[in-house]
Amino acid sequence: MEIIFYHPTFDTPYWIAELSKLLPDARIRGWERGDNAPADYALVWHPPVEMLQGRELKAVFALGAGVDSILSKLKAHPEMLPESIPLFRLEDTGMGIQMQEYAVSQVLHWFRRFDDYQALQRQSTWQPLPDYTQEEFTIGIMGAGVLGSKVAESLLSWGFPVRCWSRSRKQWPQVTSYAGEEELNAFLQGTRVLINLLPNTAETVGIINQQHLSQLPDNSYVLNLARGVHVVEEDLLAALDSGKLKAAMLDVFSREPLPKESPLWLHPRVTMTPHVAAVTRPKEAIAYIAQTITQLERGEAPGGQVDRVRGY
Ligand SMILES: NC(=O)c1ccc[n+]([C@@H]2O[C@H](COP(=O)([O-])OP(=O)(O)OC[C@H]3O[C@@H](n4cnc5c(N)ncnc54)[C@H](OP(=O)(O)O)[C@@H]3O)[C@@H](O)[C@H]2O)c1
Repeated sequence: MEIIFYHPTFDTPYWIAELSKLLPDARIRGWERGDNAPADYALVWHPPVEMLQGRELKAVFALGAGVDSILSKLKAHPEMLPESIPLFRLEDTGMGIQMQEYAVSQVLHWFRRFDDYQALQRQSTWQPLPDYTQEEFTIGIMGAGVLGSKVAESLLSWGFPVRCWSRSRKQWPQVTSYAGEEELNAFLQGTRVLINLLPNTAETVGIINQQHLSQLPDNSYVLNLARGVHVVEEDLLAALDSGKLKAAMLDVFSREPLPKESPLWLHPRVTMTPHVAAVTRPKEAIAYIAQTITQLERGEAPGGQVDRVRGY
């Protein structure tokens, strides 16, 4: 079995060595320009078109949870990956716990009013503030998939009311599930902390916009952990300035790195991280890919296959 690997920043020799331990019969090589030798599987992130096109692959693995960059490239170059070749993505593989850490720490930060106390500290003001109650801190998770379910689980354990919104209805204990476009407003109207974990698709681009933000109660919060293109940044800034939003925490941006001139950098109620909410953990990802390849070789149908029509 021949496997080719391409990632612009990962430690290729490490990945090859670790994968080889789990797939001892495979010959694994880092792909370089000009390499047209046969391959059965390709492990990729932002792959050059020439790496994939014209190959009779058994499957392609995206080295992350989101496949938007691959699918958008496919729109321009459909020959890169014919429909007959399945595309897999990483499901959780250590990203769930990272999203839990991020979401819980930020929600607790807002819930315990640390943002307000930091502002008071800057004015050298000693002033206890009224507590918030869990009942007025309903968490609304947009995108109830692998990562959304993990985040829901962790926030439930802190006693917050949790609701989710997705395309199909979920039957999760203690979580109120909203499904489809027609239930989006009802979902938003009861949400105090909006956490975005949607995939980037034609339907979800720009979904956090003026119209939808206006449905949230006043003094709400937005936590964007998914993709920058989900948020209309001017609408978010307007909602912060009008008091509709009390604060926003952003891990992802429509342009990354965020340009120096973006007003988001200096907004007093915006905090940010540079797209690090949940990174690919090599050990877990390698185990998952090796297991999926083994299942494919046995003729089984493993999970994690991307539905290209749905876009995630
Ligand atoms: N910031 C970071 O570091 C980072 C790291 C990892 C992932 N991410 C982002 O997180 C995203 C989610 O990952 P995941 O593994 O949880 O994905 P997933 O398992 O595919 O879950 C996607 C969820 O979104 C819902 N959804 C999709 N389109 C929708 C629509 N039009 N309307 C309503 N709901 C819709 C799906 O609904 P159904 O359940 O009904 O299908 C599903 O619940 C990734 O796509 C990636 O962009 C970011």
